[in-house]
This record gives sequence, C-alpha cells and structure tokens, in this order.
Amino acid sequence: MKRSSVKELLESDKFLHEVHVNGWVRTFRSNRFIALNDGSTIKNIQCVVDFENTNEDLLKRITTSAAVSIKGTLVESQGKGQTSEIQVTTLEILGDSNPEEYPIQPKKHSFEFLRENAHLRVRTNTFSAVMRVRSALSFAVHQYFQQNGFYYVNTPIITGSDAEGAGEMFKVTNFEANKAPLNEEGEVDYTQDFFGKETNLTVSGQLEAETYAMALGKVYTFGPTFRAENSNTTRHLAEFWMIEPEVAFNDLDANMDLSEDFIKGVLQYVLDNCKDDLEFLDNRLAQEEKTKPQAERSEMSLIEKLHFVVDNNFKRVSYTEAIDILRNSKPNKKKKFQFPINEWGADLQSEHERFLVEKHFKCPVILFDYPASIKAFYMRLNEDGKTVRAMDVLFPGIGEMVGGSQREERLDVLKEKMEALGIEEEELWWYLDTRKFGTAVHSGFGLGFERLVLFTTGMGNIRDVIPFPRTPQNAEF
Ligand code: 4AD
Ligand code: MG
Repeated sequence: MKRSSVKELLESDKFLHEVHVNGWVRTFRSNRFIALNDGSTIKNIQCVVDFENTNEDLLKRITTSAAVSIKGTLVESQGKGQTSEIQVTTLEILGDSNPEEYPIQPKKHSFEFLRENAHLRVRTNTFSAVMRVRSALSFAVHQYFQQNGFYYVNTPIITGSDAEGAGEMFKVTNFEANKAPLNEEGEVDYTQDFFGKETNLTVSGQLEAETYAMALGKVYTFGPTFRAENSNTTRHLAEFWMIEPEVAFNDLDANMDLSEDFIKGVLQYVLDNCKDDLEFLDNRLAQEEKTKPQAERSEMSLIEKLHFVVDNNFKRVSYTEAIDILRNSKPNKKKKFQFPINEWGADLQSEHERFLVEKHFKCPVILFDYPASIKAFYMRLNEDGKTVRAMDVLFPGIGEMVGGSQREERLDVLKEKMEALGIEEEELWWYLDTRKFGTAVHSGFGLGFERLVLFTTGMGNIRDVIPFPRTPQNAEF
C-alpha cells in the first residue's frame, strides 16, 4: 500500500479507504487516541486504537516521540476540530522512545532549554512551524529571482580578499596552531599554507557577484556568510545566510524598488502557502505578548504585520532627514538614547533605527545617502562629496534587514577612495578590472536571511530561526 503523509490524509475526503502512514507519536491519551505527526504539517492526525484483544505490551510502547507505522481505515472524524482520523488496524513500533529519558515533555519548555536540545527542538510545534516557514521563504527567494530574470551565482565561501570591511573574519588555515612556519620578519608565512596566501571565510559575496553582474546582468547569491564579531545579541549570528542581488544598470532608486518588491514578494508567498504554520505562530506570539506590560505590546498580530508590510509603501528617508528627526526626538532630548545624536555624521545605532521604524514612522523605512565616512569603500560618492549612495532597509522589531548601495563605477574615484582607506590595489586588482573594462552603473544589496525569517515568524531571537546557531562560545551539534 502506498504510504501517505499526514497532510495528504487530513486533506483527503476519500473516506473508508485503507491507508498507511508513518510518523512520531506526539501524545497518547486514554490508551486509545494517538496524536500522530510526521512533519508534513503542523497538524496531527488522530489515530484511534481499538483492538479487540488489547495488547498491553504494545500499548506501553506508544510513548511521546516513538516512531510508529500505522495501517487503518480513514474515517470522517467524530471529534471537534478535525475532519478525518484513522481507525487503526495494525500498529508497528518502528523505534521506541523511553519517556524517562526523552527530554522534550509535552509541556511548555523555555527556548533556552530547547536551544540546548537543538537536535530535538524541531519536534515541537513552534520549531517545526519556524523551519517549514524558513524552507518556504528560501524557495520564495529563488522563485522571485528566477521569475524576474536573475541568475543564481555561487560565490566562494573561502575568500582570499578581506577588503570588504563588513566585519571580523574567521581565518582558514591548514597550519596547526603554534606550529605555523614563520618568515624572516617573524610573521606567519602563509606562502607555505594550503592556498599559498592568507584566506578567510567570506563575510559577503558582493565583490565577486559584481563581476558576474557585469556579464550576466542580473544575478543573486544565496549562501552562508561568516562574521567573527563578538556580538551577543538577538539579531547576530557568527554564521548566517545572506541573499545578495546585484544588477547592472540599476541606480539607487531602482535598487530601493527591487528591495521593497522582493521583500513584499517573498512575504506574500508565505502568506499564500504557509497558512497553518502562520496561524500557529500568530497565536504563539499573541500568547507571548500577553505576558508583556500593556505599553510594550504590539498593536498588530503577526499575520496583520505581514499584510501591513505587503500592502504599504516603505518610507524612504535620507540620512540627513533622519538625523534631524532623531536630534529633535523626545528620547534624544530626554537623554534616553545610550548614544545621543548630536551632530550630522554620527553612525546610527540599533536604538535609533528602532525609534525611527517603531515609534516615528511605524512602518519599514529605507534610509539612504549616508555619510561616506561610516560606509564601505565601494559605495558611489554623491555630488556633495560627503555622502554615498547607500541604503539600509529597517524593519520594526528587527532593525537593519538590508544593507546595500549603488556601487562606485568610476575607476579614478574608486582608486582614490581605496588609497585613502589604505586598501591595496594589488589585493583587489580583479575588482578594479570591472571598472576598466566596460564599467557601468550598478547596484545591489544584502539581506540577512535569518532576520527575514525572524520577522516572518515573529520569533524573538535569531538563534531560534536557524537549525544549529553559531554564536560566540557556541558551536555545539
Ligand atoms: O549590511 P551588510 O554588512 O552588507 C554587506 O555585507 C554588503 N556587502 C551587502 C551587499 O550590498 N551585497 O550585511 C547585509 C545584511 C544586514 O543588513 C543584515 O540583515 C545581515 O546581512 N547581517 C547579519 N545577519 C545575522 N547576523 C549577523 N552577524 C549579520 N550581519 C549582517
Ligand atoms: Mg549594514
């Protein structure tokens, strides 16, 4: 008999048929009702065990998280809240699960406890919902770009350039610590290392993606990136996935349009395709909100927030306007910001970004035209000589979701910038070649995938939206 998934059976209306399903027991009630889950949906199917000669030994082995194989008749359910259930004819235990030892009890566990059991937490409703939504979002990312004429490019994970300046890098070396050969100056001699030079894990695929945009026109990367910053926050991972589109002939306005359309497109996909999981997560967040003081509670439910983002324009505001708003804001005047805003040129901290999106505009905001001094070398210099064509997309509850820019396509200006920052031309000779041979206006951005999953699922900590998070002092599993 063909094996069906729980999802297929719950959606089926072919009653009184023999069916076969495998899964894991979620709960077993009154020695009769099994709630069975196989991961295909957040919903369980009820399996009613009504054997003529009840086998006590077998019943004892139907415990939470035991793997079972069930054959029986699909019938219309008598119980409330479900359409179909299985009248079990045969039940086979595929794998026992000792309830004395199994750490995830059918009760509420803290997320901290579940993080320590990251290999088992996906067996809970919350984490299975988050991970299904994560999977749907990644499909939506590819679908969006593929349907819009972009090519998927796999940029290297091990990189020989560290000029991006996006963050601290993890070294990649084959030398044993303490046994690295030294050169005449007493420094580690990387010419003897595997790649014959210093290499790192990438912090971004942008520079390589730019070279591809200069031939394929519209490209995107979607891969792992690594940052060795010691940021122990609910928004930072040492290993995260980044989506980086890069488009030839796009200026900053087109780049902002793309980022907005892209985010709306993938959120709409999830609204259309992840209804059950979103409803569960919506409910979970509502419960969590109830534990907060009234003033801190969100005005919108999770699903309302997603619709709000899809249905409304992002507010576009220049850095200079944002500084004026922040300077005159209540928290700044009352010295509530940890980093007070006094003058133009200040880098924005997450407290400022969150004030702008959560308190002032109450919607996603695209900030653009930042001071050159606080942004990367490759961003295009504006006519004013002091700002660059940078953009950050800021989201409520998240802060920075996207960072991007129009790139400096003028060879002389780019070289000047690199020299001023002490970036060696020899190190980026290949990057400069794109400006020598058929240079063109182009733009792109990077979106942190986990921050998108965080927003979409309403979870509060980035460690809970990636299967096995890597953070300072933590690389278990
Ligand atoms: O703003 P960032 O550093 O931009 C770049 O790396 C550019 N090269 C992107 C480009 O233009 N192609 O990073 C982009 C995004 C951030 O907006 C944030 O969403 C995410 O990556 N991000 C992180 N996500 C999780 N953990 C971290 N440590 C992150 N650092 C950045
Ligand atoms: Mg950034």
